Amino acid sequence: MDFSDIQTVEHDVLVVGAGGAGIRAAVECAQNGLNTGMISKSLLGKAHTVMAEGGVAAAMGNVDSRDNWKIHFRDTMRGGKFLNQWRMAELHAKQAPERVRELEEWGAVFDRTENGLINQRNFGGHRYPRLAHVGDRTGLEILRTLQDFCIHKGIHTHMECTGLDLVLDNGRVAGLVGYWRETGRFILFKAKAVIFATGGGGKAWRITSNSWEYSGDGLGMAYRAGAELIDMEFTQFHPTGMVWPPSVRGILVTEGVRGDGGILKNSDGKRFMFDYIPKIFASETADTVEEANLWLSGDRDARRPPELLTRDVVARAIKAEVEAGRGSPNGGVFLDIASQQSAEFIKRKLPSMYHQFKELAVIDITEVPMEVGPTLHYFMGGIRVDSNSQETNIPGLFACGECAGGMHGANRLGGNSLSDLLVFGKLAGDGVTNYINNLSNKPQINNLKIKEIITSATDILNRDEGINPFVLHEKLQETMQKYVGIVRTGDELQLGLEKLEKIKEDVGRVYAHASPQYNPGWNEALDLKNLMVTAEAVTKAAFLREESRGAHTRLDFEGESEEGMKYNVVIRNTSSGMVAEKRHREEPPKELSDIAFATLSELEGESSGS
Ligand code: FUM
Repeated sequence: MDFSDIQTVEHDVLVVGAGGAGIRAAVECAQNGLNTGMISKSLLGKAHTVMAEGGVAAAMGNVDSRDNWKIHFRDTMRGGKFLNQWRMAELHAKQAPERVRELEEWGAVFDRTENGLINQRNFGGHRYPRLAHVGDRTGLEILRTLQDFCIHKGIHTHMECTGLDLVLDNGRVAGLVGYWRETGRFILFKAKAVIFATGGGGKAWRITSNSWEYSGDGLGMAYRAGAELIDMEFTQFHPTGMVWPPSVRGILVTEGVRGDGGILKNSDGKRFMFDYIPKIFASETADTVEEANLWLSGDRDARRPPELLTRDVVARAIKAEVEAGRGSPNGGVFLDIASQQSAEFIKRKLPSMYHQFKELAVIDITEVPMEVGPTLHYFMGGIRVDSNSQETNIPGLFACGECAGGMHGANRLGGNSLSDLLVFGKLAGDGVTNYINNLSNKPQINNLKIKEIITSATDILNRDEGINPFVLHEKLQETMQKYVGIVRTGDELQLGLEKLEKIKEDVGRVYAHASPQYNPGWNEALDLKNLMVTAEAVTKAAFLREESRGAHTRLDFEGESEEGMKYNVVIRNTSSGMVAEKRHREEPPKELSDIAFATLSELEGESSGS
């Protein structure tokens, strides 16, 4: 094959992924004067960012002036079970308010308090009302704002284009080969640096809030190029996804419903979350002993209800209720806001939920409860990056947003995803600018590598027979759903790994009909490579972590171990395959551990924001 006729486009930096993180990074690069390209697997504006519905977390203190970055940092570390990269959590808490205000300047229209400030609502694990929001459409509004802004910045956007693999020059980034989904034609992007902002890999599970694009592409490409992955065992099951009808199972029901007063009930009509408050919760979840006692005694007027415990706790509680035979008819539990708020309030604060249930499940949530159950929503783990610059261990490769690991530790607090993508999108843009400005010579493209990438993609089209990629994807989803779910055991994970080995072999034999044009079978086959890396990394990391921490629950290793806080699980691509290993963590900076372990009264006096 002659590679000279491949379409070639050159940018200083290529951003892969056009969700909130990707666009925010691209905006920063463009503002810094870089020729910036951005590819989107789908159409611009269609990204998982919109599934962060209930708000963006930022300690602005608009609703409770006691809030400040230190308490946000403290909540985030406690929610993450202290496994978060300390410096990332610090930057995030300090910079989130500024990123939100900047978005407002760029045109985002947030809900207001009575005195005209950006309104903030309660969310799980956040001490104070902290989520700046636009009803239950916050992610959508943020994406809309960023999208409009980026178009005015002259960013070159390539839509319906999927990345296949990176091209390196002596170990540093030189570009990326992708293909147009419509025509199947290949394209070479020459770039001095690449930012991955490709989101997670939720599509490896059957029940997920993720849509078809989320096949772990950035994780797969980074891994194959030699980047390390971190914390992959921590996958977040959002407690409330739709459970009925089957065609919409997994679609998100925002935590904003609980933030605005919704309560969870079982089939006996019992508000069961009072039975699941962790006994050590006062020290674990940033709340006072007095408040813990209020909750434990079942006092309904406690300031934050037990439905707003962290997502891992609520998801496990729902699973336990269903398994005990107290679930709803379709295998979930009931989320009731109808009995707690007026119809007018619900329609005003939660308009998308109102329409979602009206249109998809034919129920009126202002009158009856919703049926909900856990859904795979978010990856805490991802590509290992430097906390300040977001650079990976490959020079010129950066990552931000959900596909980057470390910020959230063992569990992410709701609303910290939108603030994460704003803060680290910007920092990645600055990191890239710094990298490019210091490059002494331009990386060169290696034609052999291009040939290798294209041959590996077209091999699938050249087979006479093979395995149906859609059927294989279903097998993968069943395996992950069954063996790598909300709770795990070593035996199940081992079995899961054996099944994954078999699926991996089959991925090498998938078949799609010969033409690359409009070929969903081929697109699916290509996605499977990344889904496999993702699934294997999560399972291997989960097997290695022999304790229960945050979103990773091992029934055979109850509770947190002392050793567990001292390491991260790192995934590496070696000549003998994928290796998961424990990597020792450095001691936290004293000034930060002092904040994380301080009492609330010690921190409440500080001024709000950054
Ligand atoms: O429930 C939600 O609105 C999701 C928010 C998030 O994941 O940050």
